Amino acid sequence: MSIKNFKNTIFLKVFLLIFMAIFLVLSIFSYEVTRLQKESILETIQSQAKSMADSIIFSNSEFMIIDDEIKILEFVYDFVQVNKVIEQLIVSRRNGNDLLIQVNKWELKENTIKVDDKDQVKEEKERYSIGFSKSLNKNVFKYSYPVYLTAIHWGWLHFELSLDEYNKKLNSMYNQFLLLAIIIFFSTLIVSFLIAKMVSRPIVKLEEISEKIYSGDLSKRVNVKSTDEIGKLSITFNKMIDRLEKSQLELRKSHFQLESRVQERTDELENKSKQLKELNDNLESRVQDEISKRQKQEQLLIQQSKLAAMGEMIGNIAHQWRQPLNALGLVIQNIQLSYMMDEMNEEFLDKSVEKANLLTKSMSKTIDDFRNFFKPNKEITEFKLDVAINNSFELIGSTLNHNNIELEYDFNEEIVVIGFPNEFSQVILNILTNSKDAILENKIKNGKITLEIKKCSDYGYVTIKDNAGGIALNIINKIFDPYFTTKEEGKGTGIGLYMSKIIIEKNMNGQLSVDNTNLGAMFTVKVPLCII
Ligand SMILES: Nc1ncnc2c1ncn2[C@@H]1O[C@H](COP(=O)(O)OP(=O)(O)OP(=O)(O)O)[C@@H](O)[C@H]1O
Ligand SMILES: [Mg+2]
Repeated sequence: MSIKNFKNTIFLKVFLLIFMAIFLVLSIFSYEVTRLQKESILETIQSQAKSMADSIIFSNSEFMIIDDEIKILEFVYDFVQVNKVIEQLIVSRRNGNDLLIQVNKWELKENTIKVDDKDQVKEEKERYSIGFSKSLNKNVFKYSYPVYLTAIHWGWLHFELSLDEYNKKLNSMYNQFLLLAIIIFFSTLIVSFLIAKMVSRPIVKLEEISEKIYSGDLSKRVNVKSTDEIGKLSITFNKMIDRLEKSQLELRKSHFQLESRVQERTDELENKSKQLKELNDNLESRVQDEISKRQKQEQLLIQQSKLAAMGEMIGNIAHQWRQPLNALGLVIQNIQLSYMMDEMNEEFLDKSVEKANLLTKSMSKTIDDFRNFFKPNKEITEFKLDVAINNSFELIGSTLNHNNIELEYDFNEEIVVIGFPNEFSQVILNILTNSKDAILENKIKNGKITLEIKKCSDYGYVTIKDNAGGIALNIINKIFDPYFTTKEEGKGTGIGLYMSKIIIEKNMNGQLSVDNTNLGAMFTVKVPLCII
């Protein structure tokens, strides 16, 4: 509801209420005054009529006693002519005709007193009223006066008086009343207006302030000084605004704080997203860099692994060659001896050359074996586990012999697996070499390496156990890491097991794991079976 409507409603209600109240009171008052005024006018006319009646009776009492009709008529006729106010006068006798006298007119009429009334002797009283006169055909003031002569009811004087004077007075009274009514109406209007304004002003004020509060302006206060309920309401209202203002201030403050925090966070986020974008932009090149770095490292690893393998190979070749070289030396020595002792003949020479040829052939085979062994397989192929393991034995067998390490194995079962056979043999060679190194390092007297093969579900398994004492628990999880070695510098590079794990797990989809037994380490190589 707008202020205007509200104002109108409250104001109008109060105004109408007060106006109606005042108007009602004044109306009742005016009605009463008018009624009294009217009565007083009637009473005046009545007293005038009474005095006329008294005067007629006084002047005619003698004629009335003797019932002299003519004398009475003369007197009354003259009386009516003089007193203009009388329109008609009937002298009604109990014993005789009625005398009807009007201005310039009179007549005798039949008695109007009822027969019953004539017999009964009862106290009669004057009567008056305003009523319609049939003979005059208009409204008149009717006044009936009982005539008593020496306590006897002689008859009646029925006056019918003109209402002109009465109407005149009434009209002037009405005119005065109308004027008064107009004055009263307007003063009532003004008074009602002022009272309504006075009563509704504080409420309107309250409403105005409420409207301002609603639209967000909390600076205004209600200024009502009265001590009534509205005054108290205003004080409470002002307190309420104070509190509202305070809480709004706090709210605004926390809103600002929140806003600045959100701004901070947004800035932070923007920075982060900028950094992220930069990072993202650089990521590709960084990934590329990392990949090439990794590739270089792997390349280096492969190179190092190759060098290490070469070292092993040379060591193994040396062991393989030791026996034929010795034999070759003996052949040469024998040739020299027989020459010095002059026992040299063609047959001996042929035999010696044949022997030497056999020995050099065997040495050359050794080199071929190694070369084939280190040639990487290009395609995945099926191969027998025992054959691949035997290839490794060929290469390391004499080294183990030389170091008095027993090799125990029993390959009854033929297990065909799938993968790269040369690489697989290389893995077995790595594990055997590590066992040999551990046995030598720990100076185990009866060094022994045991190999077993078996198949289970879809995989072929090779277990290689030694009795070198096992791997310390604090390093067992690191032995497959690249460059992890416990060997002296120059003796180990720490990439043997790392390369072996890559070959078995990445290239052949198998698994290479380690465990300790009571005596030493146990390596398990798991490779998928060839299922035709
Ligand atoms: N059978 C074993 N018994 C005890 N320790 C072992 C055995 N096999 C491997 N290790 C430990 O694991 C380490 C890592 O072996 P890995 O073959 O990867 O490297 P390496 O033998 O030290 O060097 P290389 O690269 O020349 O092979 C070894 O240094 C050794 O400490
Ligand atoms: Mg090794």
